[in-house]
Amino acid sequence: MEILVQETVDKMSEVAAKVVAKTLNAKPNCVLGLATGSTPLGLYKELVRMHRDEGLDFSQVTTFNLDEYVGLTKDHEQSYHYFMHENLFKHINIPKQNIHIPSGTTENYEAFCSWYENRIVECGGIDLQILGIGSDGHIAFNEPSSSLGSRTRIKTLAKQTIDDNARFFDSAEDVPIYAITMGVGTIMEARKLLMIANGKAKAEAVAAAVEGPVTSMITASALQMHPHALCVLDKDAASSLKMLDYYDWIQAKMVDAP
Ligand code: GLP
Repeated sequence: MEILVQETVDKMSEVAAKVVAKTLNAKPNCVLGLATGSTPLGLYKELVRMHRDEGLDFSQVTTFNLDEYVGLTKDHEQSYHYFMHENLFKHINIPKQNIHIPSGTTENYEAFCSWYENRIVECGGIDLQILGIGSDGHIAFNEPSSSLGSRTRIKTLAKQTIDDNARFFDSAEDVPIYAITMGVGTIMEARKLLMIANGKAKAEAVAAAVEGPVTSMITASALQMHPHALCVLDKDAASSLKMLDYYDWIQAKMVDAP
């Protein structure tokens, strides 16, 4: 895994946006996997800026979001549909029909999940998947003990995740208990993975994911098995990494590398 540590969260977002822009410029009809949460907000802001000021073109891009709460309608302010529309889609020139977000209100979840999986394949697979990390080490809503081969399905949220996400709702009781989420296996099929994390609260989860054993107890640790996984961190999120000096050394030496 490549680890890039940035001084600030803004730098983290800028570097992540450059990675997305590079993918998009190299392949204008690329397929992007998108994440929600507070972590990618700066990244989306920067992509919107690049679209506005530099003409970054999303007209041929297709997107697949990682997850959605079960039971929340598209216009619910805490739904991931609403989040994506408000923070990215309404500000860029992506065609509506190219956007895919798991449905939190389908009548038949099993059929929807298999449609979602097939649709990713039909679109050529995900070129770059953006990921955050939960404080319990989850990616998307793949909570501890999720199979590392799992596919898109319904997951019951862990108590820790409900508590973490309660800040966006009126109370913890209002946080949905179930979510529909891409599986770890689905995520691992993306050609490139870009995980971003900031803040002290993520430091232990990041260290476990990057330097701990590969385990379903920290589903982000599956990234260690991916040939093209990049992890961009701010220095607080990187603060529990044992090999921090080595990652900095690699970055410093990269310019001269053969
Ligand atoms: C939720 C999302 C994850 C996200 C995590 C961290 O659980 N399903 O995709 O990575 O929250 O969120 P935040 O970035 O707000 O810390």
